[in-house]
Formats: sequence, structure tokens, C-alpha cells
Amino acid sequence: MKKIVGFVLVLSFLVSCYRDKEELLYPNDFGSGDTSAATYSAFVQPLVSARCAACHAAYNSYAGLKVIIDNGKFRDRVIVRKDMPSGGTLSSDQILKLDKWLNAGALNN
Ligand code: HEC
Repeated sequence: MKKIVGFVLVLSFLVSCYRDKEELLYPNDFGSGDTSAATYSAFVQPLVSARCAACHAAYNSYAGLKVIIDNGKFRDRVIVRKDMPSGGTLSSDQILKLDKWLNAGALNN
């Protein structure tokens, strides 16, 4: 009987691992595996402050980011040339989501 209880406990522990949510386990992996429409507040702002603001403090605010969106440099460096973030890369899903957000007018939503 004890063995069965132990087995069930171990089994339920193992099964519980499959219920872990990726976005809770990897909170900095913004948008991976998810290419749904992005909003500024839920996707772009957290991504930019985690991946760009260490070098570009100005991009932390929407107004600061809007400058390089309006002059085309954001699209050029992040979507076209993909040489930003300098020293790192964004996943293809993240780039796709940023592209969708830009195409939808880069709203402060
Ligand atoms: C490790 C530091 C670093 C990170 C992180 C970084 N950048 Fe940069 N970025 C630079 C440097 C240095 C330059 C200036 C040299 C150049 O243009 O390549 C630059 C230039 C740029 C430019 C051109 C600006 C202009 O006015 O000509 C854009 C746009 C840009 N970065 C966007 C981004 C975005 C968006 C991110 C985040 C996804 C990012 N960068 C992350 C260091 C960084």
C-alpha cells in the first residue's frame, strides 16, 4: 500500500511539471511561440526595456521610441538588417510581432 501511495505521489509530481506555463517560467522570453497581435504595453515596451534600454535609455518611453519608428530606423535595424539589439538577437517570433505592431501603426496601445 505504501508503495502505491509513493508511486502516485511521484507520478502526480511528474505530471504537475507539464502544467508549468512557459511564460511564467521564462518571463523574459517575450513573445516566443506566439505571433498574435502585439500591443505596446504588453509586448513592445517590456521587450524594448529588457533588450534595448541598457544602451538606449531614450527608447524606454513611447515618445523616445516613436522617434526611431517615425524616421524608419527602428524597422531598418531591427526588422530589415537585424543588427539590433547589438550583441544579441531577437527570436523570429519577436521580430514578426514587432513587424505586425509597426504595420498596425505602432500605436501606444
Ligand atoms: C549593447 C548595446 C546596444 C543594445 C542592447 C541595442 N543597441 Fe541599438 N545601438 C547601439 C549603438 C552603439 C548604436 C550606434 C552605432 C550604430 O548605429 O550601429 C546603436 C544604434 C541604433 C539605432 C540607430 C540610431 C540612429 O539614430 O541612427 C537604432 C534604430 C537602434 N540602435 C535600435 C535598437 C533597438 C530597437 C534595440 C533593442 C531591440 C537596440 N538598438 C539595442 C547599441 C545597442
